Amino acid sequence: MPLPHEVKLIDVGPRDGLQNEKQPVPSHIKIELVHRLQAAGLREIEVTSYVSPKWVPQMADNHAVMAGIQRQGGVRYSVLTPNLKGFEAAVADRPDEIVVFGAASEAFSQKNINCSIAESIERFAPVVQAARAAGIAVRGAMSCTVGCPYEGDIAPERVGYLAGLMKGIGVERVDVADTIGVGTPRKVQAAFEATLKHFTIDQVSGHFHDTYGQALANTLAALELGVWNFQSSVAGLGGCPYAKGATGNLATEDLVFLLNGMGIETGIDLNRLVDAGVFISDFLERKPNSRAATAILNKRSA
Ligand code: HMG
Ligand code: MG
Repeated sequence: MPLPHEVKLIDVGPRDGLQNEKQPVPSHIKIELVHRLQAAGLREIEVTSYVSPKWVPQMADNHAVMAGIQRQGGVRYSVLTPNLKGFEAAVADRPDEIVVFGAASEAFSQKNINCSIAESIERFAPVVQAARAAGIAVRGAMSCTVGCPYEGDIAPERVGYLAGLMKGIGVERVDVADTIGVGTPRKVQAAFEATLKHFTIDQVSGHFHDTYGQALANTLAALELGVWNFQSSVAGLGGCPYAKGATGNLATEDLVFLLNGMGIETGIDLNRLVDAGVFISDFLERKPNSRAATAILNKRSA
C-alpha cells in the first residue's frame, strides 16, 4: 500500500488538551489558541465540548469560546455533543461538525458518559439525525479501541461492533482512539481493520494518546494502511479526566515533523505551530510536551 501524499490533521488541543487542565483557562486564551492554530495552517480544529459542567468544568465556557472565534474560510470547527441537550446547546454556536463519543469498552462508557454502549447509541441516534438535518457533519469518536483503563486489552471485534453501531445510526466518519496510549502498531492496525469493515479509508482517523511513547509508531502503522486523517494536540496537551493514567495526545508538532520528513503534505507551518504551542504552554507555566518543539526551540536559542 503506497503511503498517502497528503494528511489532514485535526488539532484537538483546545478540547482534548484543555479539558484535562485543573487550573481554569480563560476563554480569551482558548480563543487565541484557536486563532494561532488556524494561522499555522490547521484546517480542522476541535474547539470545545457541550458536556455537563459538573463533569468537565473546563469546557463550561463553550458558548463564549465559539462566539469569540474569528472564523477563517476553509477551516472546520468541531465540538463534542454527548446527547440532545448538548447538541441543542451547540447548534446555536454553528459548529461545522459535531462529535458523538462512544467507547469499545463497557466500563469506560459508564465512567465517561454514565451509560452503557447500547444506551449511548440510543442517545446518539437523535443527535446524529438532528445534525444531519441541520447540515452539520457528524463524526464519532471511538475510545479504548486497543485498551481500557478498567478492562485491559480490547479485542478488535469489539471495535468492529461499535463501528457498526456508529455506521448504523448515520455517523459519517469515525476516530479510532487509543485513549490511554497503550497501543502498539499491530494492535492499532487490527483496530483499524475492524473499523474498515464499516467505514472507508477516507472516513477513519487515528487519535493516539502518547502515554508509552508509541503514538508516532502507531501513526506510521496507520499510514501504511492508507489512513490519512489524524488527530493530535498542539504542545502534546491532553488526556481524559475519566481515563486514569491517560497522558497527552500525540503532539501536533511531532506529527508534522514526521510527515514533513516523509514528504507528506499537511499545509501546516511548523514554526508557527511551535509558536502556538509555546503560547499555550507559557500560559500553563510549562514547556511544550513535544520533542520536535523542544528541538526547534533549542535550535532557535542556540
Ligand atoms: P448524566 O449525569 O448521566 O446526565 O451525564 P443526565 O441526563 O442524567 O443529567 C444530569 C445533569 O447533567 C442534569 O443537570 C442535566 O441537565 C445535565 P441537573 O438537573 O443535575 O442540574 N446535563 C448536561 N449539561 C450540559 N450539557 C449536557 C448535559 N447533559 C446532561 N450535554 C453526560 C451524562 C454525558 C452529560 C455526562 O456524563 C458528561 O458530561 N460526561 C462528560 C464526559 C466527557 O466530556 N469526557 C471527555 C471527553 S471524551 C474524550 O476525551 C475521549 C476522546 O478524546 C477520544 C479518546 O481519546 O478516547 C474523544
Ligand atoms: Mg482523547
